[in-house]
Amino acid sequence: MGNPTALVTGGAGFIGSHCCVDLLANGFDVVVVDNFSNSSPAALDRVREISGAGHLTSLKVDLLDQSALQSVFDCYSIDVVIHFAAYKAVGDSMNRPREYYTNNVAGILDLVNAMNLADVKHLIFSSSCSIYGNATEIPLTESSAPGPTNPYAKSKWICEQILEDICATHPDWSVTALRYFNPVGAHESGLLGEDPTGIPGNIMPLLSQIAAGRLSELNVFGSDYATPDGTAIRDYIHVMDVVEGHRLALERGKISGFRRYNLGTGVGTSVLDLVCRFAAVSGVEIPYEIVGRRPGDVPELVASPDLAAAELGWRAKRNLDDMCRDAWHFQQLNPLGYQQAVTGERAPA
Ligand code: UD1
Repeated sequence: MGNPTALVTGGAGFIGSHCCVDLLANGFDVVVVDNFSNSSPAALDRVREISGAGHLTSLKVDLLDQSALQSVFDCYSIDVVIHFAAYKAVGDSMNRPREYYTNNVAGILDLVNAMNLADVKHLIFSSSCSIYGNATEIPLTESSAPGPTNPYAKSKWICEQILEDICATHPDWSVTALRYFNPVGAHESGLLGEDPTGIPGNIMPLLSQIAAGRLSELNVFGSDYATPDGTAIRDYIHVMDVVEGHRLALERGKISGFRRYNLGTGVGTSVLDLVCRFAAVSGVEIPYEIVGRRPGDVPELVASPDLAAAELGWRAKRNLDDMCRDAWHFQQLNPLGYQQAVTGERAPA
């Protein structure tokens, strides 16, 4: 029997590309579909560079193109789908709700309909801690009440409910929703990392680009939260720990029904703590200025990872220093992100 084949939607993106590396290293064949709207095919070249002779197929397909998507299932014998492809910027979603619901919600409907026709009923879904919104209890467990505060988070919550309903009616479906807290860091090789287009919105790529001198200082959004230093607290998690969670969920096999798990470390870090750790690890001072709160931000999100530990045998292994070190390593090797792949230049290791 050949290797199992995973279809990875959004496989050229930040988490998707790291997931491909992990799957290939663990005996899976991988078929990526991506429309490259917010990612670069160069990321998949890097996946190949890391993975050597692994079996990776890359296809430029938009999930909203139903016939193209269906033909992927016709051409490849897919065992399981890992669905990353989605819009994911909270602030952007406040300005473009229609686009977010179309891409994220219509996208999952197209995907499950194509899967259904092809009789592939095993799905790992990329969900988000943003579903919890203004958390009333910390740490958050999977049974904490959802209260999404922006169209991005709402779209993820809607998708979870669609998938849960499908599983409740059709016991031949198996769906695992993984709620990521704040994935950061990079592959330890420094070949693969987070390479947002334009000026980053998320904090770790901002810190990397400030340390590298591409940006001048960090705006710290709010210092009047009810937290020990007044800045917002998040549960940062290394991207390689996140993708290991996917593989463990996948290796558990196709168990009937819908399940959801938090993927976080259980450790909360404030914005100022993170700035401090990043400066210590990189050896570069990070200038910052405290400004007003960012609309849509919440004070604190920290996971209880206990359910994933109990049922998937998963726990995050990497700490905040590992996250900062690997993000900084990627930045140093790729000062302009994957752009260098176009010219073939890369900074020496
Ligand atoms: C958000 C989502 C999360 C999603 C992630 C990736 C929420 C609650 N969380 O995380 O689900 O996976 O985006 O898109 O919606 N910060 C600054 N200055 C900056 C940038 C950020 O102080 O210039 C602070 C933010 O206020 C926040 C922390 O850094 O407290 C992390 O921000 P960010 O990296 O943008 O992620 P979240 O908004 O927490």
